[in-house]
Amino acid sequence: QRILFVTPEIADFVKVGGLGDVSSALPRALAAHHDIRILMPAYREVRNSALNIRRVGRLPAHAGLPACELGEMTCADGMVIYVLLCPELYERDGGPYGTGPGGYGSGGWEDNDIRFARLSLAAAQIAAGQAGLDWRPQLLHLNDWSCGLAPAYLAWMGHKVPSVFTIHNLAYQGLFDRSRCAALGIPECAFHIEGVEYYDRLSFMKAGIVYASHVTTVSATYAREITTPEFGCGLDGLLRCKARQGRLSGIPNGIDDSWDPRTDAHLVQAFSANDWRGKRANADYVRHRFGLAPSAGPLFAMVSRMVHQKGVDLVIEAAPSIVQAGGQLVFIGSGERRVEAQLDRLAERYPGAVGTYIGFDEYEARCIYAGSDFLLMPSRFEPCGLSQMYAQRFGSLPIAHRTGGLADTIENGVTGFLFEGANLASFMQALQQAFSVYHSTELFYAMRRAAMTGRYHWRQSIAPYTQLYRRICNEADVEVQ
Ligand code: ADP
Ligand code: GLC
Repeated sequence: QRILFVTPEIADFVKVGGLGDVSSALPRALAAHHDIRILMPAYREVRNSALNIRRVGRLPAHAGLPACELGEMTCADGMVIYVLLCPELYERDGGPYGTGPGGYGSGGWEDNDIRFARLSLAAAQIAAGQAGLDWRPQLLHLNDWSCGLAPAYLAWMGHKVPSVFTIHNLAYQGLFDRSRCAALGIPECAFHIEGVEYYDRLSFMKAGIVYASHVTTVSATYAREITTPEFGCGLDGLLRCKARQGRLSGIPNGIDDSWDPRTDAHLVQAFSANDWRGKRANADYVRHRFGLAPSAGPLFAMVSRMVHQKGVDLVIEAAPSIVQAGGQLVFIGSGERRVEAQLDRLAERYPGAVGTYIGFDEYEARCIYAGSDFLLMPSRFEPCGLSQMYAQRFGSLPIAHRTGGLADTIENGVTGFLFEGANLASFMQALQQAFSVYHSTELFYAMRRAAMTGRYHWRQSIAPYTQLYRRICNEADVEVQ
């Protein structure tokens, strides 16, 4: 099948979180089975990359969305990426979603409705054959709210190109004032409860869910959770309805071959299971880098967007007890300013025992997975989570709330620790367990070995995506006949 994978971020050029990793790895994993190509905005990082951009098409304007050119670049491994050339929308100093740290949250660009409606419309125009390309997808694979309007535009144009809409995080919905509909070329008749309306506002996320042929999310547990009021962010009714129709499923993410402690060139020293001296070399580096004292105690780490979702407040509350019990803590991440300030204060209060790096650094993140003994992930909700998979692969045992993808990828007491309920008492209990395992060396090493051999490769996701693509294309063919 010819598939256009549409995404707002990709780790090759710009990554805010897990969606960047997924957009880089999943299309590549699927490329052996499908003619799959990527579409994304030509951010400054894309324009500045070493890859040559050929101009291959032109996309017409629509309402307040400007006309723009379409470029094509081919990666060293042959992956074709179409890029939307529209400097006034995409070439800015800042992240893909805004200037705020932590990416998705505060500090979003004011014209994000136009920017991502333009991306969505580009996908629809390419699928409808309006871009002047000699390649036309049979199916669109759309990711998160920023692509949510694509199936809606297709429907309003009267084109029946099937689509899969993947929810990576239901909490970021792309909500805008209803008065923006005209500028985005959204017909008035679509602004109702069965269309794009969400509590009198316009929701890109809801558009994706309503108009796509099929909705997926990134773990089986999260697929169930989002049909409940607790996790459904007000869309649980609609999602229950999709689930009843067999149009909602969970396909887990995986990790790619670059995440391998035996070959990762970012590490201070490569290592494999049982080579605990090699792992120790990375721990020494992390301690040194974060100004921690040499120690025989456990090293806990958090590599995360520092936002409410991730339960960083619980880690901050638990930190004094961790230090008192002889543990050390490192944080790397950015997010809510208030949380960043709290982390810095914590490091000042516990010099030599707590270290922070406020910012985003792939190299340091990898060293931390490799150097730490435990990864803290008390997320309130977690659609899939990649950090816990990377940590396990690098022999760092995750301590996580039993929710979403964390519940599906961590075996409690075998490859990590899962606790029930995102509250301090349960988290502290899990931490105590971790300390006691750490001090029973044989058990600790056995858990490390089990964690390092876990199977979380993208290979596992190929069959379910392929079956889904086939099914949806077949249904569309039947409908056309
Ligand atoms: P989310 O997408 O919700 O942020 P995931 O666990 O799916 O959570 O993915 C997070 C990704 O971002 C992982 O690849 C993780 O290593 C990376 N990451 C998070 N914070 C940082 C940071 N400060 N520096 C480098 N990488 C980071
Ligand atoms: C989102 C989720 C995370 C998931 C990632 C990739 O950012 O918060 O759980 O792993 O998307 O699907």
